[in-house]
Amino acid sequence: MPEGTRIAAVDAVPERGSYLFSVEDAFTNEREAILVPCEDEPGVEAWLNNCPHEDQRFDRGDGAAMRDGEIICPKHGSLFDACEGDCGNGPAAGSSLRPVEIAVEDGDVFLVDDGYTYLKDGGLDDDEGPSSTSHLSF
Ligand code: FES
Repeated sequence: MPEGTRIAAVDAVPERGSYLFSVEDAFTNEREAILVPCEDEPGVEAWLNNCPHEDQRFDRGDGAAMRDGEIICPKHGSLFDACEGDCGNGPAAGSSLRPVEIAVEDGDVFLVDDGYTYLKDGGLDDDEGPSSTSHLSF
């Protein structure tokens, strides 16, 4: 079993969307991260839940928008490769998502990144109550 904290089952990662969890970095900053499906082995990748262009969350509690293996930034529409994290279009072109190192074993995803400590399932503001995740911003 990998040295790390279990985040979720691989099966819990939506086929088109993301699985949100929270971590703490080495400077005790709490950060959100997402597991997203990726065509390459082991079938899942993890990134910080923030667009590198501006401070914008991809997954705002109801899963990141995805299309054809790319994560769509909800603010300006840049597309990021879910496997590589690269962006070649829109205002975030040339930037990359910040990776979170994971390992997959026996169908479970583990956080194995020395830079992050697992905090909890879900986002950082999920404790505010059920209404915080039900705001639709369309
Ligand atoms: S904030 Fe994501 S592309 Fe601008």
